[in-house]
Amino acid sequence: MKPRAAGQQTTVGVIDAEVLAFTAGHDVELDRALIAADCLGTAAHATMLSRMPKAGRVLTPAEAKKIIAELVALLLRAQAGAFEITLADQDVHLAVERHLTAKLGELGKKVHTGRSRNDQVAVDLRLFAKEELLGVLEEVAALAAVLNDFARRHAAVPMVGRTHQQPAMPSSVGLWAGAHAEALLDDAALVLAAYQLNDQCPLGAAAGYGVPLPIDRRLVSDLLGFARPIGNVLHAINSRGKLESVILGALTQVMLTLSRLAQDLVLFTMPEFGYFTLPAAFSTGSSIMPQKKNPDVLELVRSRAARVTACQTAVLDIVRSAPSGYNRDLQDAKEPFLEGLAMTRATLRILAPLMAGLEVNHDALLKGFTPNVFATDRALELVAGGMPFRDAYHHVKAHLDDLQQMSPAAALAKKTHLGAPAGLDFAATAARIAAIASLVTDERAEFHAALSKLLGVRWPLA
Ligand code: ARG
Repeated sequence: MKPRAAGQQTTVGVIDAEVLAFTAGHDVELDRALIAADCLGTAAHATMLSRMPKAGRVLTPAEAKKIIAELVALLLRAQAGAFEITLADQDVHLAVERHLTAKLGELGKKVHTGRSRNDQVAVDLRLFAKEELLGVLEEVAALAAVLNDFARRHAAVPMVGRTHQQPAMPSSVGLWAGAHAEALLDDAALVLAAYQLNDQCPLGAAAGYGVPLPIDRRLVSDLLGFARPIGNVLHAINSRGKLESVILGALTQVMLTLSRLAQDLVLFTMPEFGYFTLPAAFSTGSSIMPQKKNPDVLELVRSRAARVTACQTAVLDIVRSAPSGYNRDLQDAKEPFLEGLAMTRATLRILAPLMAGLEVNHDALLKGFTPNVFATDRALELVAGGMPFRDAYHHVKAHLDDLQQMSPAAALAKKTHLGAPAGLDFAATAARIAAIASLVTDERAEFHAALSKLLGVRWPLA
């Protein structure tokens, strides 16, 4: 065994160098995503400390103002890439405290009064997730709108409906695309539920057991634009990880929808089908085969879906083995959480222009309509003439070779009931999409107004 390296001085004492590297893990890089949230949480905490009952007040209003001004300066430096989180900091929380102390001396040393890194990281993740989930909802709505428009534009274009991937019944491009749009709306409901669970403030829980100081957790929650503070302080700490797994669960559902869409498109853009053609920018070539136009984007959508599921599984398993209270295991939920969010959003964003530019090849779609595709329609015609269905079924089955080619367009026009190819309500779907978009606008405006008021400058910073 090599002799152990000397310990490293940190804000919270000397730590063995290898232990420090092992325990900090990827936080030094990952926590860059949390700098803004950490400054916001610190600004709210400092404001609250300055509004405590006069007797035991930790900061004066003027001191809180100074701290907030320094946090704004830090945020601007971070935006310019000039704020560093070092290994000696371990994470963003101690990096911000180090910076404030370097700039403000005693004041910087006071900001951590009445909080712990445990509630601090919990509030950071929730502030970060709040902004991200609004982004997810916006992007889900945008892609659903593209799909719904595509469905409306091609509502009457015949496309063979399939079960077991085998030709089944007459259907339409509108039905196919509209199904994916509606799936995304269901997924949006899950994302919104996750958003609402997330919209609760853990700050002031400290290490998980509260503090013997008259802190005002409701005020902090309001200052940060949360719907409410989390009631029980131990639950505020325990909900870390569990919350991320709920969010990743909703994202997994979004990705399942996108993966199915991608898989359909890989199949239907194969030359043997040729139903659709990918926009030129979205197919990639081969290094050896000059003729190739590969659907790499769609293939990666499928694998990214697998990876987001894996992110959720990782977080679920970390939570499963953790007892009550803060445990360092929870730190390891951060990486899959950030990764799952980033992958889902990138996937939503790449698919919207792909779908918007997808070409529809009418002739290829019509080629799929062999007489067999009309077998069920024929049986139902016999039913309309008075024959019991099972008799009609057997009659058609016995005479499959005699089936006449029917007009796909005419067959579609007869399916007028709710949700069928000629009964799709694109306006209703558009209204549901618009409702999500306007919820995002309202929530974001309220959130940013609270943060602007807290910092005394417009949020997000220019
Ligand atoms: N980086 C840590 C995390 O993500 C911050 C909290 C550390 N708390 C502690 N008690 N060691 O969990």
